[in-house]
Amino acid sequence: MSKQTSVVSRNYLLDAINSMSPPRASQPYSRSHPPLSIQVVVNMIRLFLILPFASLSCALPGLSWIQLSNGFMEQRIKQAFRARQGPVAIVDGLTQIPDADHPFMAPEPTDQRGPCPGLNVLANHGYLPHSGIVTQADVVSAVSEGFNMGADLSELLSVLAVAQDGDLITGKFSIGGPDSRAALLGSLQNILGVESSLYHRSNGVEADASATRDDAYSGDDHTMIPGLYAQMKSIAANYGGLYTLEAMKDVQQLRHQQSVQTNPTFHFVPITGVLVIGAKAFISEFFSNGTYGDGGVPNEESISSFFGAQLLPNGSYEFIPERFPDNWYRRGTPFGLVNAIDEILDFYLTRDIGFGANAGAVNSFVPLDLGAITNVNSLAASFRTHCRPTSRARYSSRLKSSSRSIRRWST
Ligand SMILES: *[C@@H]1O[C@H](CO)[C@@H](O)[C@H](O)[C@H]1NC(C)=O
Ligand SMILES: *[C@@H]1O[C@H](CO)[C@@H](O)[C@H](O)[C@H]1NC(C)=O
Repeated sequence: MSKQTSVVSRNYLLDAINSMSPPRASQPYSRSHPPLSIQVVVNMIRLFLILPFASLSCALPGLSWIQLSNGFMEQRIKQAFRARQGPVAIVDGLTQIPDADHPFMAPEPTDQRGPCPGLNVLANHGYLPHSGIVTQADVVSAVSEGFNMGADLSELLSVLAVAQDGDLITGKFSIGGPDSRAALLGSLQNILGVESSLYHRSNGVEADASATRDDAYSGDDHTMIPGLYAQMKSIAANYGGLYTLEAMKDVQQLRHQQSVQTNPTFHFVPITGVLVIGAKAFISEFFSNGTYGDGGVPNEESISSFFGAQLLPNGSYEFIPERFPDNWYRRGTPFGLVNAIDEILDFYLTRDIGFGANAGAVNSFVPLDLGAITNVNSLAASFRTHCRPTSRARYSSRLKSSSRSIRRWST
């Protein structure tokens, strides 16, 4: 092997290592060469490492340095790649979404889009009417097709949406702001003050302490706030860059604290508070590439696309219309009502995100006396026995922590 070759391979190697580093926030990231595959890098590093041993292998003919370095380096480099890129999703046999009939189309100014990124993305791809004026039946079939949400869960959510935010006569609601197209009486109904939209969440399906939306108190509770997306991403960074359930619990807890500290009208009560918690679990469960908990990966590429968060060269984010990520696979098993309740309880019992409200000033949080409303312990117990008959040990340890936190919030 000539000296010339080894200098060339060293340069390639340095290039390869540079291309493995994340972009620096202050500089636009550009690649002067096509992205390297793992195999190319493995081969280059292998070549580089075996050069010093080439003469040794003549001295010790019994050992094949090449073979040795092959196995060793390949393992290590693949591990390093995985650590940087996160785990590879297992998507065998899963359905790729969107299909050819549902290409992305950016919303027009008259199309309604709102606080729920999942509904926005379904409307942007035509799984829901592009106008964003939908019926309960539209939602049930779209969330099943796009995200594999169980029918019991989607029916409950859409019934709540129609009941609290919709037009009870037409069964329609707007996934964005108030819209006369959702109302039988048209604009007259809006004049009468009957809303039919997911905005004004204080009495509706949406509520305070959302992951990427401000509280209603701020005046805009439906637009994706890039700074809040960045905050959520920084929490995911503590979990290897993945938007796991544990990461989402941290997000919920932080948003709860922030609302307590900044929003004098903050209230976090059943039913809306339950739905806000559920929405966090949905990020991991529905936006993951593949089935979460079974080889699926809620990675940055997927989550940023669903939230419409586009990274700018200076490191901040801007909002662009939500879309399905390229090369994305829907979860394989339906996620239904029992799963949702189970996870909401888990969030509630493992973090300080108690129900209650600020008493008209910041930092004046008054916990809701849950013990007085309902026996949550026995509710939790009946659900857990129902869903997870096999995990008794986990269940009883949860119950212990559950009574602790209920006691805390009810005193
Ligand atoms: C989803 O997983 C598949 C298989 O691992 C991968 O090829 C694809 O790039 C992933 N897509 C996203 C958006 O992460
Ligand atoms: C980053 O760039 C965008 C668009 O160029 C600009 O609007 C934004 O203010 C910049 N943010 C920072 C923190 O410099």
